Amino acid sequence: MSTLSLPPKSKMLADEFLYGVATASFQIEGGINNRLPCIWDTFCNTPGKVADNSTGEVACDHFSNWKQDIDLIESLGVDAYRLSISWPRVITESGELNQEGVNFYLDILNELQRRNIKAFVTLYHWDLPQHLEDQGGWLNRETAYKFRDYADKISIAFDDKVYAYATLNEPFCSAFLGYEAGIHAPGIVGKEFGKKAAHHLLLAHGLAMQVLAKNSPNSQNGIVLNFTPCYPESDSEADVKAASFADDYFNQWYIKPLFDGKYPEIMAELPKENHPEILEGDMAIISHHMDFLGVNFYTRAIYRADAEENFFQIDPPAPLTDIGWEIYPKAFTELLVSLNEKYTLPPVYITENGAAMPDKMIDGVVNDQDRVDYYQQHLNAVNDAMMQGVEVKGYFAWSLMDNFEWAEGYLKRFGIVHVDYDTQVRTVKASGLAYKALITNR
Ligand code: FCB
Repeated sequence: MSTLSLPPKSKMLADEFLYGVATASFQIEGGINNRLPCIWDTFCNTPGKVADNSTGEVACDHFSNWKQDIDLIESLGVDAYRLSISWPRVITESGELNQEGVNFYLDILNELQRRNIKAFVTLYHWDLPQHLEDQGGWLNRETAYKFRDYADKISIAFDDKVYAYATLNEPFCSAFLGYEAGIHAPGIVGKEFGKKAAHHLLLAHGLAMQVLAKNSPNSQNGIVLNFTPCYPESDSEADVKAASFADDYFNQWYIKPLFDGKYPEIMAELPKENHPEILEGDMAIISHHMDFLGVNFYTRAIYRADAEENFFQIDPPAPLTDIGWEIYPKAFTELLVSLNEKYTLPPVYITENGAAMPDKMIDGVVNDQDRVDYYQQHLNAVNDAMMQGVEVKGYFAWSLMDNFEWAEGYLKRFGIVHVDYDTQVRTVKASGLAYKALITNR
């Protein structure tokens, strides 16, 4: 029997500690005819961008199955559900609320409220309306103001139904993967773009925080950042410097402006043409007070010095998950402790953690012991960080169910619930049952 457990005195066993499951609009909804196109629709329809050439057209058809999916969420015994709002579903091209789309989410929020499940709403989980990308997307400063207007309208419409708002999910992915490496939508490549997109995303966050503070003062308002801690391959000074540079470039770049109101000092080492354009007052907007920080953690990365570049990432050593990410839970504890040392953090929620595994359904059962082991190690890692003084208030498993895994399409399964994409039948995996038992036996 697969189980999950925590030390008897762990604060993660307290009633106040929240357990949840997470999803994102584009990854599960489908229902594309009831919304405007987004950058991921375009990206999916560009041959060669998504591993299995799939799209978000149907996904988990959560658009039709949302009610059963809330039954499923409730059946897992969780305290909270983290979902994201599809911007192109709720805002028209002229910037008005699309009431049909708003109602879709209002129904979900009402149903969650009725079942006493706290709603953690992410306003932007990467599905930028395509018409805004056509105007330059996150390279256009105007998009930040469009995001503020969207946040303003939707937070008024949602009234008091939301427990926590995250403005953005993982701006690193939107900026770096979308506008620098080009492996995510909109697929733009060039070192001169990434930091410009990042600045506009962070500005959008700050502007949205202002309107959330006004419209929704009783919810917890913050952001969700992902961290892939950077380790040097050796103790050599050069490798240590390379890892530190990578950490500033990929991780600290997104958190330092929020808490210190400035970008890492490596900015001075980046060519001028790669710098963002920072207007007076921007950093004050970006460093708006936050009620919580959402932390997403999956893996670490190892770097060595490189003669031409500032760092070189080496292949991850085993053990690896099915998506090729090293399983290294110690980095999770070290990350949380180090963030707590570097910054004056608000309470932290672990807004995503989980693993893709090569699941097999045998006789209607998915016995994903490998995923249970991953969760066990990472729950322990969070507990260790809390014992070292980090204030963590909740933990969300990524994901509620298998779904569209971005550039990997449907090939990688992250769910604690299995999805049969032909029939849309959901089957709780052993990991889902173990998670439920941990939560309900507290
Ligand atoms: C994170 C994303 C989430 C999911 C996981 C595996 O970067 O926020 O949507 O794809 O990775």
